[in-house]
Amino acid sequence: MSDRREFVRDAALLGAAFAFPGAEWLEAAVQAPLRRAGSGAARPSDGTLGAGPAAPNPSLLAAWDGPVDEEYWRLVRSQFLISPRGVYFNTGTIGASPRPVVDAVIEHLRAFETVFDAKGFDGAALRRTTAALVGAPPQTLVFTRNTTESMNYVANGLDLAPGDEILMTTHEHVGGMCPWQLVARRRNLTLTQFPLPVPPRGAAQIVDAWRERITPRTKVMMISHILFTNGLIQPLRELCALARERGIVTAVDGAHGPGLLRLDLAASGCDFYCASPHKWLLAPKGSGLLYIAEPWLDRLWPTIASGGWDDLSIKAERFDHKGTLNESLLVGFQAAVDFNGVIGQDRIWARCKELAERLYAGLARIDGVTLTSATDAAIRAPLVSFTVRGWTTPDLIRSLWERGPVRVRHVAEYDYGWVRMSTHVYNSPEEVDRVIGIVADLARQGPGR
Ligand SMILES: Cc1ncc(COP(=O)(O)O)c(C=O)c1O
Repeated sequence: MSDRREFVRDAALLGAAFAFPGAEWLEAAVQAPLRRAGSGAARPSDGTLGAGPAAPNPSLLAAWDGPVDEEYWRLVRSQFLISPRGVYFNTGTIGASPRPVVDAVIEHLRAFETVFDAKGFDGAALRRTTAALVGAPPQTLVFTRNTTESMNYVANGLDLAPGDEILMTTHEHVGGMCPWQLVARRRNLTLTQFPLPVPPRGAAQIVDAWRERITPRTKVMMISHILFTNGLIQPLRELCALARERGIVTAVDGAHGPGLLRLDLAASGCDFYCASPHKWLLAPKGSGLLYIAEPWLDRLWPTIASGGWDDLSIKAERFDHKGTLNESLLVGFQAAVDFNGVIGQDRIWARCKELAERLYAGLARIDGVTLTSATDAAIRAPLVSFTVRGWTTPDLIRSLWERGPVRVRHVAEYDYGWVRMSTHVYNSPEEVDRVIGIVADLARQGPGR
């Protein structure tokens, strides 16, 4: 094994050891590398490991030339600040940014406040690299603060007439839904919500459910690409094709898309895609995206107007002129795109999914657990929802916190009352197994013990 390879592996093991104090392999993980260090094993000259045990360094990740095994994922985990105290299973609400993202924001902000040593920011590069990540032409992207803001741009920017219908399911998040409630009330539009089967069985069933609900008055289909309630991946291309056939505009709530799915927005056929890269892309909080399909670039009204708001030659950028911004967040956004690239979108998806499938299978084996995520793994994103017999969800969540702590989401909306767990690359099979064990104990014991 090369010196570099050995160093990379040691750093990964050390990072992992701190993630699971008390685990059986702690001794092996911590002591073995230290023994090797003590016995004169080669060390790099940059001193990164000498300064402390965790040695996070994204260049180690980029330099990884070994197999994509648990050792690799421990190295990934060492890039995060997440406390080893508990299990973070709530990326669906907000991602935990890795150190390179946090550092990029802080360094840029510090330099900025010196006034004279402020560092530049390459907005064109951010537009280009983000566009490549989501499969959209650069001139179609707006950098917003989140999905909510993006969806407000869409709802406010369309010319809809009294009586026009906006169609959506009863699995919509307030961030995607409320912008439409507002315009519906203000302009006398009709907002129709319809249920989807729980648990969903397959993509065709979902397309049928939408098809049955379309009326001649339907002008907008507001589609969540991934449902926040149970992680169902809706068949976006099919739904957009269906809408297009009927002359219906598609406004997609893609809060969970970037950083999780390999997106090809241009090919998806949607008109608008609203996203929150502070979730799965692990960008700084307050990082949003709005994709505006080419035909709409000239037709959507801006919600916020400043210089250039009516300059059609600058394409989507006219929506980006909204007063003074915190550029440091955009620098962090770029770092998040770069971090995603170091691991690779397909590898990230595969890992998130592998962990979620392990979780799903483990929960499915527990007597008393009812899963509400899709039965078909092909349409299941790594957000697993369930209930446990005899438990109210608040009590269950409280117990998970006390026993873990495990951080999860309560899907209280629409009175669903489900627990939702999301898995990302900073999670591990050990964490998944530990959580399955806790849920199994709780299901066996029942509440009140
Ligand atoms: C499906 C969905 N849409 C919209 C949102 C709102 O996202 P944001 O708060 O980033 O605007 C969320 C957040 O959890 C979500 O899950």
